[in-house]
Amino acid sequence: MAVRLPASPSVAEKLMLAMVASSDAPLLLLDGDLRVIAASNSFGRAFQVDAAGASGRSVFELGAGEWDVPKLHSLLSATASGQAAIEAYEIDLKGAGRETRRLVIKAQKLEYGDAEVTRVLMTVSDVTDARIAERLKEDMLHEKAVLLQEVQHRVANSLQIIASVLLQSARNVKSDETRTHLNDAHNRVMSIATLQRQLASSRLGDVELHPYFTQLCQSLGASMIRDHNQQSIEVSGDNSRVSADVSVSLGLIVTELVINALKHAFPEDRPGKIMVDYQSHGPNWTLCVSDDGIGMHSAPAAATPGLGTSIVEALARQLHASVRVADRKPGTAVSIVHVQIAAVDSADGQVPERAV
Ligand SMILES: Nc1ncnc2c1ncn2[C@@H]1O[C@H](COP(=O)(O)OP(=O)(O)OP(=O)(O)O)[C@@H](O)[C@H]1O
Ligand SMILES: [Mg+2]
Repeated sequence: MAVRLPASPSVAEKLMLAMVASSDAPLLLLDGDLRVIAASNSFGRAFQVDAAGASGRSVFELGAGEWDVPKLHSLLSATASGQAAIEAYEIDLKGAGRETRRLVIKAQKLEYGDAEVTRVLMTVSDVTDARIAERLKEDMLHEKAVLLQEVQHRVANSLQIIASVLLQSARNVKSDETRTHLNDAHNRVMSIATLQRQLASSRLGDVELHPYFTQLCQSLGASMIRDHNQQSIEVSGDNSRVSADVSVSLGLIVTELVINALKHAFPEDRPGKIMVDYQSHGPNWTLCVSDDGIGMHSAPAAATPGLGTSIVEALARQLHASVRVADRKPGTAVSIVHVQIAAVDSADGQVPERAV
């Protein structure tokens, strides 16, 4: 411990000096002229300063003069005169033959019932390693984000290529049925490719549904609607965001239901409109795809649910939602409804279902 003791230090003063000396945090106790009264041993070790020899010297003369920083002068003087306290001031300490250290300095004038004698406590934290670690972490996070975008970009490109191959094959085949299947497969792949593009542009890793559904329906309309004056697709809804997982399922459901409406609701190119709507209230949400076409019961193959129906049902189950089909007269509305019910014990002691 380095101390400049008064002629006959009191027990209280000795205790105070012993506390400074034993502090694990590097600190200095200064007088009103910014001379060292005591330096903790940890300060001496951390900054290669002779703690014993520090006593009585100006703080700016410590070491090889590396503490003689103009900003530290003005800040410590302002603290000693009571004008300001250094909350947290960062300086670079350039020691001869040592790498530069980034320090956080805190200084405060001690209030201890003697207005005549000024005492300033200066604590020093070496944050060099913490700053390096922070920078490393930031660099790694940035690298991860770039890699993720790169992967998403590549996946989107690959899906685009697969979709193009399917479309090309659909154009070349002779059988109408095979062409329809290939076109549907193309649209299903496009639905995922659209989602990939949305994910690539989202920094949060989640997906805003309205723009996603809008893009999805534009791509479905572009490949399936022959006359845009006859049929159109409209998207409405709130500004819900969902996780990538949920958006995959919702996107595929929209794809199936819009394809169904375009394929079955408007035979002989009759005019009509398809509406896609998503609304959420807390944990509850409803996705509805409706049309003003001929209605499901009038469709020729009404009795035979195809692959589309099983895809929609499986995805709805995955989302803990139920599928409700309504005859709109005119048209059909298919709603995917997720209702979360709070578990409250009913009178007969049975716990009701949580999600329908
Ligand atoms: N919006 C709609 N308007 C009129 N009929 C519909 C509508 N949606 C579905 N249908 C009828 O329901 C049937 C079953 O639909 P589903 O999606 O399961 O099979 P699909 O569309 O025929 O074949 P897939 O989906 O496997 O390509 C359809 O064949 C059609 O007759
Ligand atoms: Mg279908």
